[in-house]
Amino acid sequence: MKISVETIEEKYVLMTPGSQKLAAEAMQVFPSGITHDSRFQRPYGLYIDRAKGTRKWDVDGNEYIDYFGGHGSHILGHGNAAVVEAVQQAILRGTQFGGNSADEVEYGQLVLELVPCAERVRFTMSGTESTHLALRLARAYTGRSKTIRFLAHFHGWHDAVASGYSSHFDGSAVRGVPQACAEDTILLPPGDIDAVEQALSESGDVAAIILEPTGTHFGMVPFEPDFLSKLRQLTEEKGVVLIFDEVITGFRIAPGGAQEALNILPDMSTHAKIIAGGLPGGAVCGKKEIMDTLDFQVMEEKGEEKVQHNGTFNANLVSARAGIAILKQIRDTDACQRANSYGAKLRAAMNEVLVAHKMPWAVYGSYSGFFVFTNPTGLNISPLDFDPLDYDYTVLKTSRLGYAQQLVLALITQGVHIAGFPGGWVSSVHSDADMRDTIAGFDRALGLLKHQQDW
Ligand SMILES: Cc1ncc(COP(=O)(O)O)c(C=O)c1O
Repeated sequence: MKISVETIEEKYVLMTPGSQKLAAEAMQVFPSGITHDSRFQRPYGLYIDRAKGTRKWDVDGNEYIDYFGGHGSHILGHGNAAVVEAVQQAILRGTQFGGNSADEVEYGQLVLELVPCAERVRFTMSGTESTHLALRLARAYTGRSKTIRFLAHFHGWHDAVASGYSSHFDGSAVRGVPQACAEDTILLPPGDIDAVEQALSESGDVAAIILEPTGTHFGMVPFEPDFLSKLRQLTEEKGVVLIFDEVITGFRIAPGGAQEALNILPDMSTHAKIIAGGLPGGAVCGKKEIMDTLDFQVMEEKGEEKVQHNGTFNANLVSARAGIAILKQIRDTDACQRANSYGAKLRAAMNEVLVAHKMPWAVYGSYSGFFVFTNPTGLNISPLDFDPLDYDYTVLKTSRLGYAQQLVLALITQGVHIAGFPGGWVSSVHSDADMRDTIAGFDRALGLLKHQQDW
């Protein structure tokens, strides 16, 4: 009897009939059937029912080891007991009081205690809102209008940060964004300090430089070790506000984020995800004199217009209590260190699997992140001595194009869920058992891919 061997996609479809049905219904409700662009997946994405710790279950009852980690929000894993309890207690007291709360003061004090550059903080409801506000404050503070950003760095989806992330690398406006907005952005190759120096000497109108401090997407395209210190020096000399976008790195790579881990003090930093305990929320932190542009009294005394910032749910009780619950654990335990150490072990173990399969790919990254470089152009690389610093973003960002989609699906069929870059975030509660199951799943997934591609 002939044993039928399904393709990876067929296997996926066979095990996820519930997701397939929901995806068909969703197509009649949402554009592309999804609620976040990054969830676009062919033939359709997974529908998740619940999650706990490092695991999650889809609507068909399949169990996955999760490396999507709530897009980087769940450093302590899903459903952390203290966060769940804090949320349950908060919801009984209310959500939005139309007034101040003692809780928001405690929340803000914790942020000031943990984030080195934070002399003041203003809460927002997302990372996008945080970078939007930080750039506005920097423009108000300096009286200048332009922003320097680095190609492929992600800062959310508002107009000022839209081009040059996944498209429009020439700086032209993405569809729906006014050209004038794009013109106020100077896009530079990531990590190119000479380009920064030149841009700053050509334009005296640069208010801020914003960047992901460990490189594009949490280090997919890392920086040379001395880049940040040079950038700090240059921005100080030119009076340009340096903003670390710590939406991912904050409270993750160290309790005080990249500014603590790399020992470089930005003027401002932007936060979301972990800061609100994996619930909606965010924050802008910074030097008092910059944050003072929001202050009614200070601006009145200076005879200047204050910067506007509203937001119905800023520091709402539920997000604030969840944030307090998570930040205390980040402060008082070795959670960041545990996640970082699992990340390093995972990258090494995955590379051993690549070696065993004689695959010219590489798993790399830093801290609690990993990326699978799927080498779509067939570079002559080997997993164990791959150094991402040898390649620029045009090479490292192509991984998504290669076998990424197939790898993500193949891993799903083996009980492992990663993000589509392809790669993921690990948490402080990923265990030896998770490592063992992940490595076994990765091994089988590569077997499926090799069989399918006839490598
Ligand atoms: C570095 C960075 N900045 C900003 C954002 C936007 O955050 P949000 O999705 O909360 O708007 C993200 C989201 O992933 C991010 O990774």
